[in-house]
Amino acid sequence: MATEKGKGHTMWGGRFATAPSDIMEAINASIDVDQRMAEQDVAGSRAHADMLAEMGIISEADNEAIQAGLDQVLAELRAGTFPFDRALEDIHMNIEARLKALIGEPAGRLHTARSRNDQVVTDFRLWTRGALNEAMDRLRELQRVLAVRAGDETETVMPGFTHLQTAQPVTLGHHLLAYVEMFQRDRARLFDCALRLNESPLGAAALAGTGFPIDREMTAEALGFDRPMANSLDAVSARDFALEALSALSIAATHLSRLAEEIVLWSSAQFSFATLSDAWSTGSSIMPQKRNPDAAELIRAKAALITGQFTSLQGAVKALPLAYAKDLQDDKVLTFAAFDTFDLCVRAMAGMMETISFNHEAMRAAAAKGFSTATDLADWLVRELGLPFREAHHVTGALVALAEAKNCDLSDLSLEEMQGEAAGITDGIYDVLTVEKSVASRTSYGGTAPVRVAEEVANWFERLGLDAQK
Ligand code: ARG
Repeated sequence: MATEKGKGHTMWGGRFATAPSDIMEAINASIDVDQRMAEQDVAGSRAHADMLAEMGIISEADNEAIQAGLDQVLAELRAGTFPFDRALEDIHMNIEARLKALIGEPAGRLHTARSRNDQVVTDFRLWTRGALNEAMDRLRELQRVLAVRAGDETETVMPGFTHLQTAQPVTLGHHLLAYVEMFQRDRARLFDCALRLNESPLGAAALAGTGFPIDREMTAEALGFDRPMANSLDAVSARDFALEALSALSIAATHLSRLAEEIVLWSSAQFSFATLSDAWSTGSSIMPQKRNPDAAELIRAKAALITGQFTSLQGAVKALPLAYAKDLQDDKVLTFAAFDTFDLCVRAMAGMMETISFNHEAMRAAAAKGFSTATDLADWLVRELGLPFREAHHVTGALVALAEAKNCDLSDLSLEEMQGEAAGITDGIYDVLTVEKSVASRTSYGGTAPVRVAEEVANWFERLGLDAQK
């Protein structure tokens, strides 16, 4: 149903003599983006029409015609036969115009006591609520993958780093569970956002409410909202639900990016800690030996895009006077893109982590390098010889310097050499210098010891609804 040029716009053209210029139409139209809210728009219209009829604002007969027409609209949308028309700007006017074509006059009564300003943000809240739930589910799937992998690696020793310098040995299971914790907080942030988002703007009309005797509780309930929003100006102009969603996505994407960075490092020849499966590697067109972690690199880049979408939306909103302004149309461009990108990244990460193989020998060898058990040596001096920690630190430092000068490991120093720094040292010292002993000793709550990690894996299996390990 194209607009006839020269007669103004079919929906709002009453006072206009001519149609908008082509460029005006191009900058103004949002249908290419907001058609993704078609089903939400139909749901909002159904609830609104039911309420109008219930309150006697439109007749039952009109409501029946509207509901039947919306059935048809929905069927066409799902069949892919709905005739979208850019001249009708957005999803709201496309659907209303189609309804008019299908049922005639009653369609014109649907917009009573409603404006596109409350309509669009109702649709957008409904869409974002669904997207938040999907994002939470996706993150949960990734957590499950990580927890399962962690369960197989509770005893695998790898270097733990600070400043990317070998610090102390840790277990790979412990390292993987660190991300499960982060993604849990990310899910909690998305969940909180969905809770706060769940109020209905419908019935705020253009900005000031309406003189019709509407029942906002009724439409709120029909759409699964907890309650109607209390202030009509706030209802049509607030976008903090989208900002909150994007900021939570941006933080979660930052976590994905950190893990992605570790995949890039670990799969390098220099680290050789891990190998991505063929399905998650790419080749080079010139260097036949290459096996590139492209998906991980792209997750790193896309995390920045999501943060950009958050800051773009914040920039668009921060200087808007109340209430609605058309700037708010582009909120959906940013939000849809952020959720799409996030979805892709989480799925790619889950796929990579499900099939990545870990090189236990390389991890163990690296863990043993760099005097990673020096802290264990110092702790032994404190425990066994009663040295103050500061003095033990000093003695250990001297032993590290000696080993460095001799180009050997701490465990290669002779007992006499050890005793040269602290006379009381006995054979027992060698027990704490292996990486296995080191990690096994870290049994404090939250520590890296295999027993603790196995407990945490069991916890996560329960929380994530995974079957206990055989
Ligand atoms: N397509 C518009 C949007 O996405 C709908 C609201 C238009 N309201 C208006 N007063 N022009 O924001």
